[in-house]
Amino acid sequence: MLLIASCRYPARDLPGAWLQIDRDRPLRQPDVPYEPSSDRAIGAMLELAAPHREDVIYDLGCGDGRVVIDAVRLSGARGVGVDLDPKLVRLAQANAARAGVSGHVSFYTRDLFETELREASVVFLFLWPEINRRLLPKLLRELRPGARIVSNMHDMGEYAPTRRITLQGGPQPHHVYLWVVPDSAAK
Ligand SMILES: C[S@@+](CC[C@H](N)C(=O)[O-])C[C@H]1O[C@@H](n2cnc3c(N)ncnc32)[C@H](O)[C@@H]1O
Repeated sequence: MLLIASCRYPARDLPGAWLQIDRDRPLRQPDVPYEPSSDRAIGAMLELAAPHREDVIYDLGCGDGRVVIDAVRLSGARGVGVDLDPKLVRLAQANAARAGVSGHVSFYTRDLFETELREASVVFLFLWPEINRRLLPKLLRELRPGARIVSNMHDMGEYAPTRRITLQGGPQPHHVYLWVVPDSAAK
C-alpha cells in the first residue's frame, strides 16, 4: 500500500524515507494488459529476429520474460526486459534463473517509454497497435541502422514491415512483423 497521510506536499516532493512504496503495484496503469505470447508466436519472433551472440536484445513490456529468455538462451546474447509491473519483473527474474540465463538477462520495473534504447540491436514487442505507433518515433530515433524490431500480432500502421510471418490455424490471421531500422532513420 502506498501510504501518504494528509500532507501538504505533492508525493514527488517527499523525502524517499517517508514513502512506503508498494512493491507489488505497477508504476502506473499499464498501456497494455499482460498476455503472454504463445509458443508458436515466440518461435516466429525468434525466426524473424535471428538473434546472435553479439546482439543486445530488449523486450519492451516483457511480462514473464519468456521471449527475451528464449532469445538469450538460443543465441548467447545479452538481454534486457522492462515492465511496469514489479510482480511480472520478479517472475521474469525467477524464470531466467530457472532457465540458467540470469547472468545474461536483466529485468527492470520501468516504463518502456522512459527506457533508453541506444544499445539494443533487437527489440521485441507485444503491445497494442496504437502503442506501437506511439513508440515508433522513439525506436527510429534511438536504434542504430540495422537494428531489428519484432512485433507479435500488431503492425506499425503506415510503416511497412520488412518481413512478416503469418501463423495459420487460428480463428483469424495472426501475423508477426519484422522491421529493420534503415540508414535514413531520423536520429
Ligand atoms: C501483452 S503483454 C506481453 C508480454 C511479453 N512481452 C510476451 O510477449 O509474452 C504486455 C506487457 O507490457 C507491459 N506494459 C504495458 N505498458 C507498459 C509500459 N508503458 N512500460 C512497460 N511495460 C508495459 C504489461 O505490464 C504487460 O506485461
